[in-house]
Amino acid sequence: QRIYIPSDTTAKALGADRLAKLINIMASEQGLELDIKRNGTRALYWLEPLIEVDTAKGRFGFGPVKEADLESLFAAKFWQGDVEHPLALGLVDDIEYLKKQQRLTFARIGAIDPLSLSDYQHLDGFKGLKKALKMDSQALVDQVKESGLRGRGGAAFPTGIKWQTVLNAPAEQKYIVCNADEGDSGTFADRLVMECDPFMLIEGMIIAGLAVGATQGYIYLRSEYPLAYKTLNQAIALAYANNLLGSDIQGSDKHFDLEVRLGAGAYICGEETSLLESLEGKRGLVRAKPPLPAIVGLFGQPTVVNNVLSLAAVPFILDQGAKAYADCGMGRSRGTLPFQLAGNVKRGGLVELAFGPKLSELMFDFGGGTRNGRPLKAVQVGGPLGAYLPESQWDTQLDYEAFAKEGAVLGHGGVVMFDDTVDMSEQARFSMEFCVAESCGKCTPCRIGSTRGVEVIDRIRSGENVDSNIALLTDLCETMVDGSLCAMGGMTPFPVQSAMTHFKEDFVKNAASTT
Ligand code: NAI
Ligand code: SF4
Repeated sequence: QRIYIPSDTTAKALGADRLAKLINIMASEQGLELDIKRNGTRALYWLEPLIEVDTAKGRFGFGPVKEADLESLFAAKFWQGDVEHPLALGLVDDIEYLKKQQRLTFARIGAIDPLSLSDYQHLDGFKGLKKALKMDSQALVDQVKESGLRGRGGAAFPTGIKWQTVLNAPAEQKYIVCNADEGDSGTFADRLVMECDPFMLIEGMIIAGLAVGATQGYIYLRSEYPLAYKTLNQAIALAYANNLLGSDIQGSDKHFDLEVRLGAGAYICGEETSLLESLEGKRGLVRAKPPLPAIVGLFGQPTVVNNVLSLAAVPFILDQGAKAYADCGMGRSRGTLPFQLAGNVKRGGLVELAFGPKLSELMFDFGGGTRNGRPLKAVQVGGPLGAYLPESQWDTQLDYEAFAKEGAVLGHGGVVMFDDTVDMSEQARFSMEFCVAESCGKCTPCRIGSTRGVEVIDRIRSGENVDSNIALLTDLCETMVDGSLCAMGGMTPFPVQSAMTHFKEDFVKNAASTT
């Protein structure tokens, strides 16, 4: 009887490894032959550790399982799947949270053993690459253009146009760089790809290499992801051993090499040009653009820098065709975005949806509101540089342009929820403080402005000359937006301005005491 026990960082943190060990011991004590397989995770985090049992009807789930539940699970003969138990969830595929999603990129996540090539191939893995190996570069770039895929790191620049620029740039050596420096608050989608379906990223990077004529790829990974580092390196070794990387890939005359490089924990190294500096062994200082990395990138050569999710979407596009991807979504936002629900949320996890539904559907239908049951006050979408959205904006459609109209960003799909006890002036202060800590220091509005921002917010919070300090903060935010070299300084004001606009009461509450 086959049992699946999740193995990603979150499930491990919740005790999945110990559960696997105990289930093994208890099964042998009872003379049961259980075949324990470690899958990734379905990323329904409030149900983790979610144990699955393979049956002829499909996989039955039990969760969240704690050590103390094992006795009753064994008594209920959980290994038979369709049994009565308080933690029984029925068929995993029928869990509403999962069933209502459009998992294109995350179709295999949680279903497979991350390092099993046969599992990957069994669920359509490497089909896209097989097609790509028979296509010429321009046809590959055209597929990505037609799919409407836009950069999933946050900026939403059309991926096909970026690839075209690199394809058109004449050079002996070109590079594919995967930005895996996932640093946004509340985000974990890149980590899930790398820990739970690493061959998908490898496949996407090989296809990108074939499309633009690059023979070397680097995955720039944040050092805070040790499991992803280990899994990626194991997957890359397996890919080399199976002639999916290296020379003459699958009997073709194509060549692609791939390596993982670890960052050292700086948020700014997620900005593409400082990432390239860091990859070159230098301090992560932002470069002025132009020239674009697509023309002058790593070691001065034309370079595709794409986020994990952008590259991970490519195998599906090649396998199922650009139209299948483009058929999902709304307006200019085509395909799906894997949203990540975090913060004070009842049902946190990954929700991959075609663009179009309202933010409130994500927060309530999927998320179920706050975990502690208190009323929601604000939602920050798009990481620490994203705006705070008040209730009046929760019906905004999940679409890049609809969010831009509200002065907000979808970013990398992180959604962090806050209940009514949050003090938004404190959150605004945190945004400036974060910029103080993470600024690369190259330009003045960001380096000095963020420090002055913390000071001004402190004065406002203590009730000192509130009106004139709010005017000063407004001015400072405008200067940072207009005068910063990159998005770090240029977007830090977004959460501050949105907090001031929509939650002014939190800024002026001490005004009467001194003004
Ligand atoms: P950007 O708008 O300057 O550029 C977007 C991408 O398109 C870059 O890769 C750029 O090189 C490329 N590009 C632009 N014009 C091009 C052309 N004509 N040909 C080829 N390539 C072209 O945005 P940037 O500064 O790279 O990123 C800012 C975004 O990053 C923000 O919107 C924010 O949401 C996001 N972000 C994401 C984080 C994460 O952890 N994923 C963290 C912080 C910010
Ligand atoms: Fe560096 Fe900040 Fe200027 Fe970006 S805005 S280049 S992080 S100092």
